[in-house]
Amino acid sequence: MTKCSIEISEHSGFCFGVERAIQMALQALKEYENVVTLGPIIHNPQMVQYLQKKGLGCVNSIEEITDQVVIIRSHGITNENYKKLQEKNVIIIDATCPIVKKAQNFAKKLTAKDYQLVILGEKAHPEVEALLSYVDDKSIVVDNPNEKLELDDMKIALIAQTTQSEETFELLGFKLLKMCRELHVVKTICNATKLRQEETRMIAKKVDIMFIVGGKNSANTTRLAEIARQERCESFHIETADEIHNKMFRSNQKVGICAGASTPAWIINNVKNKINKYLCEDNLNV
Ligand code: F3S
Repeated sequence: MTKCSIEISEHSGFCFGVERAIQMALQALKEYENVVTLGPIIHNPQMVQYLQKKGLGCVNSIEEITDQVVIIRSHGITNENYKKLQEKNVIIIDATCPIVKKAQNFAKKLTAKDYQLVILGEKAHPEVEALLSYVDDKSIVVDNPNEKLELDDMKIALIAQTTQSEETFELLGFKLLKMCRELHVVKTICNATKLRQEETRMIAKKVDIMFIVGGKNSANTTRLAEIARQERCESFHIETADEIHNKMFRSNQKVGICAGASTPAWIINNVKNKINKYLCEDNLNV
C-alpha cells in the first residue's frame, strides 16, 4: 500500500459571515415566496446553484427588482443602491457581514475626520465598491504595495478589504509611513481570513502538493492559492473534486487541503475522498 498523508486546514470552509448569510437566506425562503439576492449570495457557484434549487433567485441590478424580498449579501452593497432599494418599498434582509459593516463604519469615521483614506483591496470587488460609496472622492484603492501612489494629503488613514493578506497590508503601511506626516492604520482584515491564511502558509511549508478549494471568483480563496504558491508548494485552485485526476499525484506525496470561507463542507469532503482514492488506495498510474 502506498504511504499517504493528507492534511486538512482546521478552519477550512464557511466563515461566520457566510454561514450567517446562508442561514438568513434559508429562513427567508421559509417565510416568503419570492426571494432574491442582489448579485450571487456568496462567491461559490456550487452553493449558489444549491440555493437556486431551493428557490432563491438572483438579480444583477436594482432595476430588475419589483416586489421581491431582497437579501443583501455578505459583501454589502453601495450606499446608493441601499437607498434605491428603500425607495422601492420592498422587504430588505440585510445579510452584510458585521465585520464588513465595521470596516464601512471605520471608513466613514476616518474620512469625516479629514483623513485621505487608502483602501488596500481589489478595485472591482463589490465589498470595495460598497466601501467607496461611504467615503469622499479623495479616497483611493490600492491593490498592491508596488503600485505608484499619488497622495493629495499628508494626513492618511489606511484600511483594507476584509480578505486581504496581513503581509501585503503591512508592506503598504510601511510605504505610506514614508510618504506622509500622519498615518492612522485600522486593521480591518477579518480574523477568519487571517486564520485561513496562516494555516495555508503553515501547511504549504510541510506538504508536497496543495489543493485550495473554492470559487474561482472568490477573493479569499484566490488569496489562499497565492499564499501556497509563495511557499513554492505545487498548488491547484479547484472548485470541485471533478477537477482532480490521478496524474496530479506521485507516490508518497504529502497533500494539503485548504478551503476558502465560502466553500461548503460537502465539497471539501468530496475533495478529500477523491484524493484519498487516488493517493491512499494505490490507484496511481506511476
Ligand atoms: Fe465576514 Fe470575514 Fe467571512 S468579513 S464574510 S467573516 S471572511
